[in-house]
Amino acid sequence: MFQADLLRGKKVLITGGGSGLGKSMGRGFLELGAELVICGRRQEVLEETVAEFHTDYLGRAAWHVCDIRDAEAVEAVVGAVWQDGPLDVLVNNAAGNFLAKSETLSPRALDAVVRIVLHGSANMTLACGRRWLEEGRPGTVLSIVTSYAWTGSPYVLPSAMAKAGVLAMTRSLATEWGGRGIRLNAIAPGPFPTEGAWQRLVPDPALEEAWRKKIPLGRFGEHAELANLAAYLIADGSAYVNGEVVTIDGGEWLKGAAQFALMEQLSDEDWAALRKR
Ligand code: HXC
Repeated sequence: MFQADLLRGKKVLITGGGSGLGKSMGRGFLELGAELVICGRRQEVLEETVAEFHTDYLGRAAWHVCDIRDAEAVEAVVGAVWQDGPLDVLVNNAAGNFLAKSETLSPRALDAVVRIVLHGSANMTLACGRRWLEEGRPGTVLSIVTSYAWTGSPYVLPSAMAKAGVLAMTRSLATEWGGRGIRLNAIAPGPFPTEGAWQRLVPDPALEEAWRKKIPLGRFGEHAELANLAAYLIADGSAYVNGEVVTIDGGEWLKGAAQFALMEQLSDEDWAALRKR
């Protein structure tokens, strides 16, 4: 889809890059010539992913253990990343989520998700942004939110609140820092199967099937499709896109919102009868 060296010369840091969508985006960026750094909480996962990238001769990739909830740890890791040469792109991908009836959430449960998604993304963005501003270097931040960042969603309240906050951060800083060479955008993915999300959010096959039916395109997303959109948004060719959120969900959220979408249950005979009436 892109020229092979689209991201050559760009150093990209992906939070939660050891698994799931972060790993798929990392692979996509490496294939386009980027230099990659991934961070996450689990050393063995990071090591394995980087080893896999190296086995596949995908170019320069490194890892750092980092719990992005911890602002001091973030500062230390971002400092270490910079020591090796400045960063060009930050991808806020790391997230936490689970299904729960909101009235059952304990304070710690709320914190567990909000601190990863909201505080973690802000910690990383501020640590990178400060350095770009001090050095007068351009920078790009891409945050992975979700379509319910603006609709809200039942049963994932902490995630919905936190993702809405990340979107607000994206738009706020796009204005505040845009004039100083830093642009921020977001992607709102619909359902893209990953082990982490599916285990927590799609507990049985019947639910998976019901979900698939909610999507106009009749399927879930493929990781490469998300990686392509992310590559576009961090590449120089999209330099005029700032403060935007691009949805990639096969039309899922629109169908959920559309007043007459439930009419798809009608058969041709039902339609004929309806017209007569
Ligand atoms: C109710 C729960 C719960 C659940 C945990 N808690 N799971 N409460 N229902 N299913 C509560 C615990 O009881 C505890 O509160 C508190 O949350 C903290 O739990 P810990 O396990 O100690 O937290 P921690 O080890 O920090 O783990 C954070 C986590 C975990 C978010 C709970 O799942 C995680 O690390 N997730 C990372 C990966 C992930 O979630 N991937 C999916 C992202 S998908 P008490 O009071 O009992 O001590 C995504 C995309 C969404 O974000 C869009 C999809 C379309």
